[in-house]
Amino acid sequence: MKHLNHVGLFLLSFTCLQLSAAAPARAGISREAEALVNWKASLVSADESLGSWSLANSTSLCSWTHISCDPAEHITGLDLSGTSLNGTLDRLDFSAFPQLQILVLSSNSLYGTIPAGIGNLTSLVDLHISDNPYLRGAIPHSIGQLKHLSRLVLSLVGLDGRLPEEIGNLTTLEELYLNSVPLTGPIPLTIGMLVKLRVLSMQQNNLTGNIPLEIGNMTELCKLYFSDNYLEGQLPGTISNLINLQDLDLSINQLGGHIVTKLGNSSSLDMVDISHNKFSGLFPPSICMGNVLRTVYAEYNRFTGIHHQTFQNCTSLQTVVFTANNIVADIRDIFGEHQRQLLMIAFSQNQLYGTLLTDEGEIFFCNYTGLELIDLSNNVLHGGLSKCFWDIPWLGFMDLSNNSFDGVVPLSRSFPYALEYLRLANNHFEGPFPLALKKCKNLTTLDLGGNSFSGTIPSWISKDLPGLRFFRLSSNMFDGIIPRQILQFSRLQLLDLSKNKLTGAIPDDFLNFTGMAYEQNDDSGYHKFPGKIQIVWKNVDYVYTTKIAGMVGIDLSGNVLSQEIPGGLTTLLVLRYLNLSGNHLSGCIPEDIGNLVLLESLDLSRNQLSGEIPPSFTGLKSMSALNLSSNKLYGMIPMGSQLQTLVDPSIYINNLGLCGFPLEDCVNSSPSKQNERSQSEDREALWLYCFVAAGFIFGFWLYWGMLSFYSETGRCTFYQYVDNMQENFTKKVHSCISWFQAKALNEV
Ligand SMILES: *[C@@H]1O[C@H](CO)[C@@H](O)[C@H](O)[C@H]1NC(C)=O
Ligand SMILES: *[C@@H]1O[C@H](CO)[C@@H](O)[C@H](O)[C@H]1NC(C)=O
Ligand SMILES: *[C@@H]1O[C@H](CO)[C@@H](O)[C@H](O)[C@H]1NC(C)=O
Ligand SMILES: *[C@@H]1O[C@H](CO)[C@@H](O)[C@H](O)[C@H]1NC(C)=O
Ligand SMILES: *[C@@H]1O[C@H](CO)[C@@H](O)[C@H](O)[C@H]1NC(C)=O
Ligand SMILES: *[C@@H]1O[C@H](CO)[C@@H](O)[C@H](O)[C@H]1NC(C)=O
Ligand SMILES: *[C@@H]1O[C@H](CO)[C@@H](O)[C@H](O)[C@H]1NC(C)=O
Ligand SMILES: *[C@@H]1O[C@H](CO)[C@@H](O)[C@H](O)[C@H]1NC(C)=O
Ligand SMILES: *[C@@H]1O[C@H](CO)[C@@H](O)[C@H](O)[C@H]1NC(C)=O
Ligand SMILES: *[C@@H]1O[C@H](CO)[C@@H](O)[C@H](O)[C@H]1NC(C)=O
Repeated sequence: MKHLNHVGLFLLSFTCLQLSAAAPARAGISREAEALVNWKASLVSADESLGSWSLANSTSLCSWTHISCDPAEHITGLDLSGTSLNGTLDRLDFSAFPQLQILVLSSNSLYGTIPAGIGNLTSLVDLHISDNPYLRGAIPHSIGQLKHLSRLVLSLVGLDGRLPEEIGNLTTLEELYLNSVPLTGPIPLTIGMLVKLRVLSMQQNNLTGNIPLEIGNMTELCKLYFSDNYLEGQLPGTISNLINLQDLDLSINQLGGHIVTKLGNSSSLDMVDISHNKFSGLFPPSICMGNVLRTVYAEYNRFTGIHHQTFQNCTSLQTVVFTANNIVADIRDIFGEHQRQLLMIAFSQNQLYGTLLTDEGEIFFCNYTGLELIDLSNNVLHGGLSKCFWDIPWLGFMDLSNNSFDGVVPLSRSFPYALEYLRLANNHFEGPFPLALKKCKNLTTLDLGGNSFSGTIPSWISKDLPGLRFFRLSSNMFDGIIPRQILQFSRLQLLDLSKNKLTGAIPDDFLNFTGMAYEQNDDSGYHKFPGKIQIVWKNVDYVYTTKIAGMVGIDLSGNVLSQEIPGGLTTLLVLRYLNLSGNHLSGCIPEDIGNLVLLESLDLSRNQLSGEIPPSFTGLKSMSALNLSSNKLYGMIPMGSQLQTLVDPSIYINNLGLCGFPLEDCVNSSPSKQNERSQSEDREALWLYCFVAAGFIFGFWLYWGMLSFYSETGRCTFYQYVDNMQENFTKKVHSCISWFQAKALNEV
C-alpha cells in the first residue's frame, strides 16, 4: 500500500509539475486552436489536408497540418498555400497569433477584403497573400503596424486603391512584391523610409505620377521593377544613388527625358529594361561600368545615339534590343571584337548605317559564335553577306529586311541548321533561290520577298524545309512552274508567291498539304522574339506577327499561271485569304468553294474564269473582301446574307454578264446590261449550236462524257464543259466555236 501510495504520489506530482509547466502555454494554445477552428468553420470549403484541425485535437495543435510552432508550442508559422481555401478572412482572429512570424495564404480562392485586424500580427516577418484573384478592397492602413515585416508578397489579387502611406512604417522591410494588385494613384513618398529594401517590385499596376525622388534613399536596392504602369515624367536624378542596383525594369510606362547621367552609377548592373517609354537623347554611356551587364532592353523609345564606347568593353553582354528608336550610328561603332558572348542583337527600325563586312571581307558578327538572334531590319545598312554567317552554330533568328543589302546569298560549307526564322525581304539581293537554306530543317519562317531573286523555285524545298509555316517569295523574278512538291509542305499556313513570273498550272494534290486544312497549334515563330511577315490582306499591305495564330492564306497573284483553279483548294478549310488575281486562269470557279467558311478575302480578278458563280458562294460566311472583276463570268450573283454586305459593284465589273445584287436585277436589266446580256445569250445559243454539231461528229461519247461530267461535279455548267473539251479533247469543237464566234463578231 505504502508502495502504491508512493507511486500514486509520484504520478500526481509528475502530473502537477507537468501541468504547472504547461499551464500558461496551454491557455495560449487553445486560443490559437479555437481561432483556427472557428475560421475553418466559416470557410465555404478547404482542402482535406485541414482535416486535423479540430478542437478534439487541440492538445496536439503543433501536430496539425500546415502549422509550425516554437518550443513553447506557440504557432510561429502558418503555411496554407494551395489548400483550396474558399472563403473570407473576416472570421480569422489575427490577435490570437501574437507569435506568428510567417503567414502564407497564397494560391487560394479567398474572397472579401483583407481585414484591418491583420495589423495585430505584430511578430510577422514574412507575409504572402499572392494569387488570390477574388480578394477585393484596398491594402489596409494597419499594414503599417507589422513592425517586423521583412518580406511582403501581395501579388495577383483583385485589390485596388492606393498603396497606403503607412507602408513607410515598415522600416525593416527588405522585399516588397506588389504586382498585379492592381494599385492605382501615385507611389507614396514615404516609400523613401524603406531604407533596407533590397527588392521593390510593383509591376502591372495602374500607378500614376512620377517616380519619387525619395527612391534614392533605398541605397540597398538591388532589384527595382516598375514595369507596366502609367508612370510619367523624368527619372529622378537620385536614382544614381542606387549603387547596388542589379536589375532595373521600368518598361511600359510613359517615362521620358534624358537619362545619360542617371543610369550607370551601379557597377552591379546586370539587367536593364527601359523599353516602351519615351526616353530620348544619348543612351547612358557608363551603363556597363561594372562589366557585369548582360541584358539591355531599350526598344520603343526615342534614343538618338549610342556612344561608341558604351558596349566596347562589355564582355558580359548577351542581349541588346534597341528596336524602334532613332539611333543614327555606324553599326561597326556599336559592336566590337570583344562581344563574342552576344546572344541576341536587335536594332531594327533605327538609322544604323554602314556594312556588316569588315575590311577583311568577313562579317564581324561571325566572331559572335553564341549568337542566336540578329534583327537589323529597317535600317540603312548596305553591302553583301558573308558566308561565315551560316557558320554561326546557334543562329536561329535573322531579320535583315528593309535595308539595302545586295549581292548573292552566299553558300558555305556548313548549313545554318539552327535557323528557324529568316527574313531578307526588301533589299537588293539577287541570284537563285539560296542553296544555303537547304537542310534548314528547323526553318518555320522564310521571307525573301521584294528582292531580285530569279530562277526556279527548287523542288527540294518541302523535303528539306519540312517545318516551314510562313513562306514568302513575293515580288521577285522567279520563273518556271510552281513545283508540285510545294504541296508536300504539311505545316505551311502562309504561301505568298505573288508578283513573280511563274507559269503553268497550280499543282493539285492537296492530300499532304494539311497546314491549311486544319487549325494548327500556336507554337509558330521563333520562341524568343516575335517574328513578322508582310502580306497583302484585304487589299492592304499588312505586317503580320507570326506568333499570333490563325493567319492562313495563299497569294499567287500577279504571275502567269494558267489552266483551272484546282478543286483541291476547297479542302483547305482554315484558309482566310486566297488571292489568284492577275493570272491566266481559266475554267470555272470550283463548285464547292463555299466549304471555305473562314475565307475572308478572295481575289480572282483579272483572269479568264468562265461560267457562273457557284451557288455554294453563299456559304462564304466570313467573306469581307471579294473581287471577281475582269473575268468571263456570267449569270446570277448568288444571294447570301454575307454576300449582301459586299455592296461595291466594282468587284463584279468587266465580266461577260453578271446580274443581281449589287449589280442590276437579273430580269430588269438596264439597257447596257441588257445589251451585254443579250450578247452573252447569243453566244450561248451559238455554243449550243456548236454542241449539236459536235454531237453529230462525236456521237455517243460526248453524250456519255457529259453525263459523267455532270455526275462528277454536279454543277459546273455546260459551257465550261465546252471549255474543257476545247482544251483537252477536240480541236473540232474549238474550231467550230471559233468559226461561229468570228461569224458573230462580223455580224455585230
Ligand atoms: C489529430 O491530428 C493528427 C495529426 O495531424 C491526426 O493524425 C489525427 O487524425 C487528428 N485527430 C483528430 C481526432 O482529428
Ligand atoms: C467558392 O464557393 C462558392 C459557393 O459555393 C462558389 O460559388 C464559388 O464558385 C467557389 N469559388 C471557387 C473559386 O471555387
Ligand atoms: C486588432 O486590430 C484591430 C484593427 O486594427 C484593432 O481595432 C484591435 O484593437 C486589435 N486587437 C488586438 C487584440 O490587438
Ligand atoms: C487599370 O487600368 C486598366 C487599363 O486602363 C483598366 O482597365 C482597369 O480597370 C484599371 N484598374 C483599376 C483597378 O483601376
Ligand atoms: C506610420 O505612418 C504614418 C503615415 O505615414 C505616420 O503618420 C506615422 O507617424 C507612422 N507611425 C510610426 C509609428 O512610424
Ligand atoms: C531617408 O532615410 C532616412 C533614414 O536613413 C530618413 O530619415 C529620411 O526621412 C528618408 N528620406 C525620405 C525622403 O524618405
Ligand atoms: C555615384 O555613386 C557614388 C557613390 O558610389 C556617388 O558618390 C556619386 O555622387 C554618384 N554619382 C552620381 C552622378 O550620382
Ligand atoms: C576598354 O578597355 C580598354 C583596355 O582595358 C581600356 O583601355 C579602355 O579605356 C576601356 N574603354 C572603356 C570605355 O571603358
Ligand atoms: C491581290 O493581289 C494584288 C496584287 O497582286 C493586290 O493588288 C490585291 O489588292 C490583292 N487582293 C486582295 C483582296 O488582297
Ligand atoms: C477589284 O479588282 C480590280 C482589278 O484588279 C480593281 O481595279 C478594283 O479596284 C478591285 N475592286 C476592289 C473593291 O477591290
